[in-house]
Parts: sequence; structure tokens; C-alpha cells
Amino acid sequence: MKIAIVGGTGEQGPGLALRWALAGEEVVIGSRSQERAEKVAAELNGELGQDRIRGLENARAAEAAEVVVLTVPYSAHLSTIESVRSQVQDKIFVDVSVPLDPEYPRRMKMPPAGSATEEAQAALGPSTRVVAAFQNIAAHLLRDPTHAIDCDVLVCGNDLEAKKTVMSLVGKMGLQAYDAGPAESARVIEGLTSILIRLNIRHKVKGAGIRLAGLPR
Ligand SMILES: NC(=O)c1ccc[n+]([C@@H]2O[C@H](COP(=O)([O-])OP(=O)(O)OC[C@H]3O[C@@H](n4cnc5c(N)ncnc54)[C@H](OP(=O)(O)O)[C@@H]3O)[C@@H](O)[C@H]2O)c1
Repeated sequence: MKIAIVGGTGEQGPGLALRWALAGEEVVIGSRSQERAEKVAAELNGELGQDRIRGLENARAAEAAEVVVLTVPYSAHLSTIESVRSQVQDKIFVDVSVPLDPEYPRRMKMPPAGSATEEAQAALGPSTRVVAAFQNIAAHLLRDPTHAIDCDVLVCGNDLEAKKTVMSLVGKMGLQAYDAGPAESARVIEGLTSILIRLNIRHKVKGAGIRLAGLPR
């Protein structure tokens, strides 16, 4: 599977790239700057000991992939979606965004569409299949592939086959994915992150996650 990570040079993107590359997937790091994308790809390849990750400007990265993952700050959500709109038509688009209130990041500030995921689906149109995933995993946990992550991954979206593909990609990282329903479930999944942030602060930890009970694993 060819996976592009748009905005993959920051906190969340490199961990996803590293874990998928380790699982044998072909990964492209995207950035507004080709140079930054190449630099991060080279750093990650250094850790892998193999050249498995490429770096390209965002739109070219999206063009080169079958599955496009978005990891930019929510403030850049719609503008970045617009910048890759034509490259992601007929593809799976994985939205990792959490619309936290920039003035008080323990609180959600949901867009009028209901959630970032629904906003992305509305902006991209029906031929792009938007799937939400990874909102509840802290970046530093993803970034260290030598450690197992104590968190399940809730996946939602309106296209069953797209969700199955994304759940399989989650599974390749050694994580347990659950289909949490249609795109509107992202209102809850994205919102859970604000609770995890509060729990991190309350318990003076950095990696609070979620585990579902009573379901087959
Ligand atoms: N960090 C976490 O622990 C975590 C956990 C769960 C979910 N998330 C969600 O994942 C998403 C990414 O989080 P992150 O912490 O990885 O973000 P980040 O490190 O702040 O930014 C990621 C990348 O986005 C690009 N970017 C920054 N500002 C931009 C702008 N104005 N326009 C276009 N691109 C811009 C930058 O890449 P270039 O400069 O190279 O273009 C940057 O390296 C967010 O929506 C966040 O809510 C994060």
C-alpha cells in the first residue's frame, strides 16, 4: 500500500510513517516544503536502516499514494485539504485532526459540520472516502516503535471498504482497530482527545489512551 502523510514532518506524522514502513508499507512524507519532507524522510530512513520513506511536497505526496493521511494542526485543516483536493479524489483520506479550542486546548471547538472528519468529507466530496483514525494516540507513543501502544484505535467513516482498509493498516502497526460507525461518530472520537488531555494533566502523565472492553480482540 502506498501511503502519503500530508503534514508528515511534525509530531504525529513521523511515528505513523515509521510504524507503517516497519510493517513493509511504502510511505511518502508530505510537507509544504520539499526540503523539509526530504529531511524528515532521511532521518526516519536513518532510524530504519533502509530507504523506505520518501519526502515530497504535499500535493505530490498525495498524488503518489493510494491512501492519504492528514496530520496538520486543525487551524490548517481546510486550507491543506483544499491544497490536495484534486490529488485525493477517488482515494481513501484518513483524517487524524482534533479540533481543539486554540484558546483552551482541553476543550473542543467543533466546526459547523460537526467534526473535522465530517468537515473533510464535505470539503472533498463523495468520491473521496474520508476515514477518521488515530485521534486518541499521543505522538510520542507512535514515534517509539520499540514500545507497544496501550490504546485502541476507533475508526469511523461512511464507506465500509475504506474503513476496512484503514483498520487493516492500523492492525499492521500492532494496534487494535474498531469500526465505530459513520463519519458522525468522529464527534465523539475527536472529542475523547480533549478528555485524554485533561486526564494526562490530572495524573501527570503524557500517554493516556483508551481500551474497549467486552469485545473480541
Ligand atoms: N501531537 C499529538 O500528540 C496528536 C495526537 C492526536 C491527534 N493529533 C492531531 O494530529 C494533527 C497533527 O498534529 P501534530 O502535533 O503532528 O501537528 P504539528 O506537529 O503542529 O504540525 C504538523 C505539520 O503540519 C504542517 N503545518 C503546520 N502549520 C501549517 C499550516 N498553517 N498550513 C499547512 N501546514 C501546516 C507542518 O509541516 P510543514 O511545515 O513541513 O508543511 C507541521 O510539521 C492535529 O490535527 C492534531 O490535532 C495530534
